[in-house]
Amino acid sequence: MIKKGIILAGGHGTRMSPLTKAVNKQLLPIYDKPLIFYPLSILMLSKIKEILIIINKGQLNQYRKILPDGKNLGIKIIYKEQSYPKGLPDAFLLGEKFIGKDNVALILGDNFFYGQSLSKTLLDCVKLKKGAKVLLHKVSKPELYGLAKVKGRNKIVSIKEKPKKYFSDLAITGLYFFDKNVVKFSKQLKPSKRGELEITDLLNRYKKKQQLYADYIGRGGAWLDTGSIEDFYKTSAFVSAIENRQGFKISCIEEIALNNKWISKKNIIEAIKFYGKCQYSDYLRKLI
Ligand code: G1P
Repeated sequence: MIKKGIILAGGHGTRMSPLTKAVNKQLLPIYDKPLIFYPLSILMLSKIKEILIIINKGQLNQYRKILPDGKNLGIKIIYKEQSYPKGLPDAFLLGEKFIGKDNVALILGDNFFYGQSLSKTLLDCVKLKKGAKVLLHKVSKPELYGLAKVKGRNKIVSIKEKPKKYFSDLAITGLYFFDKNVVKFSKQLKPSKRGELEITDLLNRYKKKQQLYADYIGRGGAWLDTGSIEDFYKTSAFVSAIENRQGFKISCIEEIALNNKWISKKNIIEAIKFYGKCQYSDYLRKLI
């Protein structure tokens, strides 16, 4: 079972400047809550309670204001600052002590997932004992992502990072599950031509050992981008449409904690006090 997870929330969000000049991208709103709530929810739905959030240097106070230490959610949140973005596998170098000898999940702080069967898929993924697993999703613009070719349903035979020529339309989403070798393998990686450690190089280590597996966000599920300002608004519109139609909130972290039985009504009342008079608090009140 994977019991630990890392959220990579560093980066300078330059494509979204000036919005990201003073505030980290993951603290900007997707409709009615900060972006960071969405990847955090994914880990919580995977029943992961030990979470490391990697953030930019100097942004700890901002984060602590909204997500102090996790106690209010029945989980444990710790932070690690990154001086500059060195590529996704740097998460495992910065997280070496946190990971110890355990398996670990990694989610990119700007990835948005939604779907009916998502929780079941996540609970299957955290059962991983050996190797690595990625979640694939069919996309219409594959050239923007890491891509995979699969044999049968679950075995990945080839991967490429943003190839210019058509290779596959199955994108590798920003949610990964690794066995404990991930730290060792990450240490062996060399920076690519663009000067960063590449997640595809790390995944290739597992592929060479025939230990790279796939699961899917099917066509009934959504994996949306929050890379640009336009994507931010589109994802916000998606959340708004679903929430206002159904009356349920997507990624209400207190609701997930309550459903997981990690917190009680008392914590919800505290959360209402913390957020103050707002629509989010009204929703929390309805839960109890
Ligand atoms: C990164 C990964 C890519 C993956 C994507 C998912 O790309 O390198 O393989 O498909 O995240 O969001 P980036 O968005 O950092 O360019």
